[in-house]
Amino acid sequence: MNLNTEDSTGFVPFARPSIGIEEEEAVLAVLRSGWLTTGGVAKKFEDAFSKALQVPYALAVNSATSGLHLALDVLGVKEGDWVISSPYTFTATVEIARYLGAHPLFVDIERDSFNIDPMLIERALEQSGKRVRCVIPVHVGGFPCNMRSICEIARRKKVAVVEDAAHAFPCRTNAGPAGTAGDFGVFSFYATKTITTGEGGMLVTSCGDFARQAGILRLHGIDREVWKRYQGDEPAAWEYDVVAPGYKYNLADLNAALGLCQLEKALDFRKRRESIARRYLEAFAEADFLRLPPEAPGHSWHLFVLCLKPDLMTVDRDEFLKALIERGVGASVHYKPLHLMSYYRDTYGLKAGDFPNSLERYLGAISLPIYPSMTNEQVEKVIREVMYLGGKYRRSNG
Ligand SMILES: Cc1ncc(COP(=O)(O)O)c(C=O)c1O
Repeated sequence: MNLNTEDSTGFVPFARPSIGIEEEEAVLAVLRSGWLTTGGVAKKFEDAFSKALQVPYALAVNSATSGLHLALDVLGVKEGDWVISSPYTFTATVEIARYLGAHPLFVDIERDSFNIDPMLIERALEQSGKRVRCVIPVHVGGFPCNMRSICEIARRKKVAVVEDAAHAFPCRTNAGPAGTAGDFGVFSFYATKTITTGEGGMLVTSCGDFARQAGILRLHGIDREVWKRYQGDEPAAWEYDVVAPGYKYNLADLNAALGLCQLEKALDFRKRRESIARRYLEAFAEADFLRLPPEAPGHSWHLFVLCLKPDLMTVDRDEFLKALIERGVGASVHYKPLHLMSYYRDTYGLKAGDFPNSLERYLGAISLPIYPSMTNEQVEKVIREVMYLGGKYRRSNG
């Protein structure tokens, strides 16, 4: 069964991109233009993104993972350094530290959200004895981190902040648009994200020097953008210098064309996701076997993560989830925390109980479908099936 495709049985996919005629036409125009790779369309996408976010510099990249890697490289993270994040995230958030020979230092999430606990960041900075260079908060599911606290602690302790805003476009934190409060912010346009370019991402910063360095590293360490060399106003099209051992992280115009269209629709998409979230919250308000996700006015509602209360259930989350999928709802889990993954567990000697809030959330977590093209009937079906299984598997009080 493919959890992302509709079929005649009425299965509700977990995620589906909203691609319209505008996207089809924009991609076709690039195909017909004769210039498929990074060029004027990617530049237009960057300009539109930086305007939308009110941030001076936006660099289109071929994934958020690439953007995170560039950010850490520009910040000078190196062999033997440590970066703080929570284990309640996707591996990309911290694997990029390993690319540079640095290590993840995990601290737990807050009790009432899926996001990193600022107090624990401060404690780790004071007590770990490690050379921490950077904090990477993740707006999990699009729920805003407490960026004011995190940036204040980071400033005091002289460490950098890279916001993993992969889920957070558009999202507003208590320090402005997500992605703009730290030294860098990184967005993902992976196929299931709030806006998509198929694969892709955006690295944003307010620092001109950081942007210049990231721009060079993004394309092989070449000192000027390749596409500009063919614009006609440059003196020697063939000539360039290589000033660093860079990467191949540019976003092609084909993908950027999708991004420009999706950006136009981003606020409408968010509005629809929020209305689905409101309906779920209302429908599940009285379901005592569920813990509902936290709310915030700036939430992007990329994910809607329910938590089952295991003490009240006769089955565990895995069985509940399996039954839900069998009944036609493409649900999923965000996240199996990284400290339970064999690589991080074994490399850093971590135990399941080291991060109790992450563990507790994980054991109950079920992500429900939430995307703009969901019909009201599909939303109601999801609600009906969750409530049916809740009734079936809730422990009786007697
Ligand atoms: C929290 C988080 N960070 C980073 C990434 C990496 O994004 P990308 O697939 O664009 O590299 C993801 C992808 O799912 C993610 O969920």
